[in-house]
Amino acid sequence: MNRLKNKVAIITGGASGIGAATANLFAAEGATVVLTDINEPKLKTVADEITALGGTVLPLKHDVSAEEDWKTVVEATVDTFGKISILFNNAGITIRSAAWEDIPLTDFKKVVDVDLTSQFLGIRAVAATMTKNGGGSIINMSSTAGFIATEAHPGYTASKGGSRLLTKAAAREYAKAKLRVNSIHPGFTRTELTSPYLDSEQGQKAMLSNNPMGRAGEAIEIATTVLFLASDDSSFMTGTELVVDGGQTCV
Ligand code: NAI
Repeated sequence: MNRLKNKVAIITGGASGIGAATANLFAAEGATVVLTDINEPKLKTVADEITALGGTVLPLKHDVSAEEDWKTVVEATVDTFGKISILFNNAGITIRSAAWEDIPLTDFKKVVDVDLTSQFLGIRAVAATMTKNGGGSIINMSSTAGFIATEAHPGYTASKGGSRLLTKAAAREYAKAKLRVNSIHPGFTRTELTSPYLDSEQGQKAMLSNNPMGRAGEAIEIATTVLFLASDDSSFMTGTELVVDGGQTCV
């Protein structure tokens, strides 16, 4: 119950899905949670749930693709709680388009900004504070799409592949300062992002044929892996790509 006792964790995209499940788990494990998202009503709902269960949480409106928002979040966290121990760079989107010729450049750039550039901004924003305090753990949300390309989502695939190597570059940069940086690569996980697809006939067939376990993951199954990377249990791990996919990438 106390694997994150005395730790302060920033979780982006915390108003929904994997971010919300991770925030609940982190709070239950004793962390103080700074929960950020662009969706303020849902942010409040998740923060209220955590408070009701006895957790400590600070909800903050935050667009992860905006450099100035990162400055505000880091300052608010340090002013309120004195330090940052963990950053979970989780927020992400995708914009689907059938044909590459029809994908507006603005859509491609938007996905890269939210899914990849945000992680660079986040690492850069917290690194000085974290290293000054003896290090900590950054977890970057990638995906199995960081290993296996999907032609319908070029911006998403490029971002998740980029996240994988951005993680390794940051891991090398900050290893001596005891700031660990790892990436996590879930397969299909049931959240608001994926439920419409998973509930479709096509999605159900795909799960049965492409996934050895024959099912999608649950958000809590990703959250428990993030907890491992966030906690001191993974103290000798940095630059690692941790796959959580029911065997989908076993080829
Ligand atoms: P979700 O859609 O349930 O949650 C994503 C959250 O990010 C939402 O609350 C949304 O408001 C927030 N968000 C969107 N744009 C933002 C921005 N500019 N700034 C701050 N917050 C923003 O999605 P889910 O499924 O929980 O995904 C979380 C992460 O996990 C994403 O990075 C996604 O790519 C990744 N992932 C999800 C998988 C899945 O099957 N659900 C599989 C592999 C990776």
